[in-house]
Amino acid sequence: MKMGQKGPEPDMTRLLSGHPSALKMGPVKATGDPNWVWHGSMTNTAFSGPWGVTYAANLTPDEKTGLGSWTEENFIKALRTGKHHGVGRPILPPMPWEAYAKATDEDLKVLWAYLRSVPKIENLVPEYQPPAAPPAPAKKQGK
Ligand code: HEM
Repeated sequence: MKMGQKGPEPDMTRLLSGHPSALKMGPVKATGDPNWVWHGSMTNTAFSGPWGVTYAANLTPDEKTGLGSWTEENFIKALRTGKHHGVGRPILPPMPWEAYAKATDEDLKVLWAYLRSVPKIENLVPEYQPPAAPPAPAKKQGK
């Protein structure tokens, strides 16, 4: 998304290319209200929550930075299992892979064919950042 007159609106020049590599996200400041559990970027491509920081993937067919090197099989397996390439690390929130996991093969193949048809956009999405380790417990004084 980009900022429009009435708030964020789709940026069609960057269609499905994921989190813009040039947009560096700083640390999220705690609000002090525990009811706020996650934060999102204005572009709707970076998300910070208890899982760490995730960045929406580049789904265009670019070979170096997108799904260019993926196969239809990798893609379907990733959406069915919630694992990177269908075999790697878990795909984290807010990617709603469970919502697509039970789609028919035909639907997922059509989705893959569509993603193969959009223009390639070179955009290297930042690596996922795991949550910061909780602070070490304070050492007891004396005995
Ligand atoms: C039909 C719709 C969608 C498709 C086909 C799709 C596809 C994908 C794929 C293939 C990946 C890469 C997984 C990997 O590297 O193995 C991914 C990652 C991701 N997607 Fe989606 N996605 C969809 C919808 C969404 C929506 C609606 C959101 C957000 C609201 C979203 C957010 C993300 C995020 C944050 C990641 C990175 C997750 C991580 O690093 O663990 N996706 N998506």
